[in-house]
Amino acid sequence: MSSITIVGTGYVGLTTGAFLAHLGHEVTCADVVEDKIEGLRRGEVPIVEDGLDELVREGLEGGRLAFVLGAAAAAADREFVFLCVPTPQRGDGSADMAYIEAAAREIGPALAAEAVVVNKSTVPVGSTRVVERALGRSDVSVVSNPEFLREGSAVHDCFHPDRIVIGSDDQASAIRVAALYKAIQAPLIVTDPSSAETIKYASNAFLATKVSFVNAVANLCEAVGADVREVVLGMGYDRRIGFEFLRPGPGFGGSCFPKDTRALVRIGEDAGYDFGLLRGVIAVNEEQHARVVSKVLAQAGGSVEGVTVAAWGLTFKARTDDRRDSPALHVIDRLVDKGARVRAYDPTVHGPLGRIEVCDDPYAACEDAHVLAVLTEWDEFRWLDFRKVRDVMARPAIVDARNLLDSAALRRAGFAYQGIGRQ
Ligand code: UDX
Repeated sequence: MSSITIVGTGYVGLTTGAFLAHLGHEVTCADVVEDKIEGLRRGEVPIVEDGLDELVREGLEGGRLAFVLGAAAAAADREFVFLCVPTPQRGDGSADMAYIEAAAREIGPALAAEAVVVNKSTVPVGSTRVVERALGRSDVSVVSNPEFLREGSAVHDCFHPDRIVIGSDDQASAIRVAALYKAIQAPLIVTDPSSAETIKYASNAFLATKVSFVNAVANLCEAVGADVREVVLGMGYDRRIGFEFLRPGPGFGGSCFPKDTRALVRIGEDAGYDFGLLRGVIAVNEEQHARVVSKVLAQAGGSVEGVTVAAWGLTFKARTDDRRDSPALHVIDRLVDKGARVRAYDPTVHGPLGRIEVCDDPYAACEDAHVLAVLTEWDEFRWLDFRKVRDVMARPAIVDARNLLDSAALRRAGFAYQGIGRQ
């Protein structure tokens, strides 16, 4: 078993660290936020992620998982150091490498000879070299090992990856990193660092393309009188297409797709390639927010000025508490700009949120509302008492931006119902 330090305890770092400890490795996770580290030492996981609390607790109790403040001391004498720090978006759409370069500069002098630095952060193509330079060590190798974890099922994805990608010019280091995962059954792709980095961006861009594609098809369905759910079913049986990632909705969001698609367009531009297809994907996504807003306006009779709108769901998707780049928030922002009063409910959000009144139960959010907008696909929304919803609303009208609810039952109950991509 190996000794590993993880730099950064966000979604990726914390999940990867707890997972590697479960596999039997000796793992230390480092972060710069003192409160977070203290909480994690007590087993308090600061994010909603299925199974992560148990995994962290198991690692702590077994003595294989530790949390420390600051990266340098934690990186000394370790066989592997994983970089899992954020690469936020800069004003021009490119990825900001400041955190990753700072982390590399910090750990460089502390690293043991022959250590392997594993980069899991999503970084522009060519960044493995940037990390090498920032480390300033010729006796240490840098390997790209992109993550493909979905928030909400990140623990499951660690144990059941579709593939493991390792990018390195040094075969021996690649084999050492691959050996960390030997308990996991998955196709292993060992390639050069630039290809590994491109695999990550291209995968996210392709998935984002599927989402924008199905949203565009949903819009077409509305125009021609087809039902997108039937269309996707008929398409999905073609194995070249499949059923996955073809759920129409209010657009993709989260910490990865919006940022990574823009970054890839930018990477192309810098290299002299205009990735027009991906620019289209981004444009369709932004239009999708506007389409949901239009549906709410239509249900409200043309204007939301002074109108109460109930919103169910604030996170960018269900089973996470993450609201980064959430389509729900984009839609709500536009509604508030147009004069709506928005009362929202989300199982993970408590207390006021900017211009949104957050309620502690879904019925309270609907009180006096003229329209209810379902913006995140939380399963619990399906099972609510819609007679009660109807009775507290000023007017029973629903815009179901996730096609989550039973439209026929709602219409029978007296609701005006508008989904996505269907009549
Ligand atoms: C994504 C990638 O899936 C993961 O491999 C990568 O490492 C990080 O980015 P995540 O951001 O957690 O993961 O969310 P994901 O489940 O992929 O969904 C992204 C967005 O697309 C969400 O807003 C989701 O609601 C939307 N989506 C997804 C759809 O609108 N329709 C779909 O069919 C699928």
